[in-house]
Amino acid sequence: MLLSPALVLVGALYATFLALRYLAQLHHHRKHAKQLHCQPPATGNSSFLGIPAFLRLHQAVREKRWIDYLCDQFDLHGTTFTQRFLSRKLLTTIEPENVKAILATQFQDFCLGTRHEQFYPLLGDGIFTLDGAGWSHARGLLRPQFTRDQVADLSMLDDHISHLINLIPKDRSSFDIQRLFFLLTLDSATHFLFGESVGCMSPQTTGVLEKSAVRNAQGFADAFTTAQDYLAARSRAQGLYWVINPKEFREANRRVHEVVDHYVNVALEAKRNPDRKPGDGRYIFLEALAEDTDDPKMLRDNMLNILLAGRDTTASLLSSAFFYLARNQDVFHRLRREIVEEFVLRLQPPVPVNFRVATKDTSLPVGGGADRRSPVYVKKGTLVAYNVFSMHRRTDLWGQDARTFRPERWEENAKHGWEYLPFNGGPRICLGQQYALTEASYTVVRLMQHFDTLENADPDPRQEPIKQSNLTMMHDHGVPVKLYSLQPL
Ligand code: HEM
Repeated sequence: MLLSPALVLVGALYATFLALRYLAQLHHHRKHAKQLHCQPPATGNSSFLGIPAFLRLHQAVREKRWIDYLCDQFDLHGTTFTQRFLSRKLLTTIEPENVKAILATQFQDFCLGTRHEQFYPLLGDGIFTLDGAGWSHARGLLRPQFTRDQVADLSMLDDHISHLINLIPKDRSSFDIQRLFFLLTLDSATHFLFGESVGCMSPQTTGVLEKSAVRNAQGFADAFTTAQDYLAARSRAQGLYWVINPKEFREANRRVHEVVDHYVNVALEAKRNPDRKPGDGRYIFLEALAEDTDDPKMLRDNMLNILLAGRDTTASLLSSAFFYLARNQDVFHRLRREIVEEFVLRLQPPVPVNFRVATKDTSLPVGGGADRRSPVYVKKGTLVAYNVFSMHRRTDLWGQDARTFRPERWEENAKHGWEYLPFNGGPRICLGQQYALTEASYTVVRLMQHFDTLENADPDPRQEPIKQSNLTMMHDHGVPVKLYSLQPL
């Protein structure tokens, strides 16, 4: 079929327009980059629209070694490099100066990108998914709840830890302590947030769960985990997140929402009828939040955002602590609170990799030019990844033994800046840091008071964990240990 001359002319004009626009943009970015004294960064593998790079990462995810794969990329390309990833431009960095710029000094130049759309079906509009005014509002609402003494209310934790101790085999046999830590943090987080624990570890289940579609606490934990697995898959799919929306995901979200909505209704009812308020007047996070808003969706969304931010992260920290302690008996015996907090979070940060998207044409302080010390230009829309896991293992920052478990390093030098960042930094720094460290330290101390012997029961002699890829990093094969007392208590 012959094309009409008019159509050919329109096509040619359009192609010319696109070419001119491209050249104008190129000129604008070159000029702007020069004004900002930027130099080009190193380039990673970008062939064929970044499809091979995506496939290699996908393969590494399947083989449970994606974090290690990402770490290797810095050995190949340096500490800041750019590459095409599924046709999108991606800038990756483990330079503390750049991370500080992204999270703090140039906070306004970056946003969460498509995280809101990716996570919306489970988390809705909450502190973890919003940018701009919505995020400021959520943070303002939640922040006061984290400064209260209740965050450090250890009496609340006590019962949950006793339940956990009851579940540890008494016959010195091996068990997976990671599984128990995930139950512990779900029980304690729901207790802290809703005023009532879902009770994964206690023999009695709460009536609420029996009447709902999840049936029991394990059902709630499973639905929450399933929903979260899909969030992680949607996050990896970047702009194609919408392809991943199967029935299993929608059903898991519905089940989780049903349970949380029940607690929201109870809190709103208590607000309307303060005289009929059940309980002993104890502080309840959700009730305190309901003082500030009557919006049930806002309450549900924020409860879920905190549950997600707080459950797996603390369980991951505790599991990694026991992974290393089981392999290092000397440390187990002279354990001190600050050692637990810091050495484990350096080697196994529960949130290993994170992303931001540039909201405008901007620059990052280092990574460009031959010596990689000049600023690098970052176009609006560029995906910028910062990899805390690899930054925590840089030999130039932490010494030749950076990949080794050697807690004495914290006694030699406890002062660290942006090169140590398990809880994020800047305006979006983790709100639950104190809560998490209190819970983790207290749990370790209680377990150590109760048991004097810890044995590694992993049949594999590995010193580096196999990491599972989810929103939070965890141990793919669990953390098999034996925990018992040689001396009677
Ligand atoms: C070892 C445990 C924990 C680690 C390593 C950790 C780490 C982090 C990190 C890296 C972020 C930044 C995420 C981002 O902006 O992309 C974050 C945010 C957050 N965390 Fe934690 N977290 C932990 C425990 C908790 C706990 C127990 C809670 C609550 C009870 C909590 C509540 C939050 C909240 C609300 C945010 C969002 C802050 C904002 O965007 O303004 N976290 N956390």
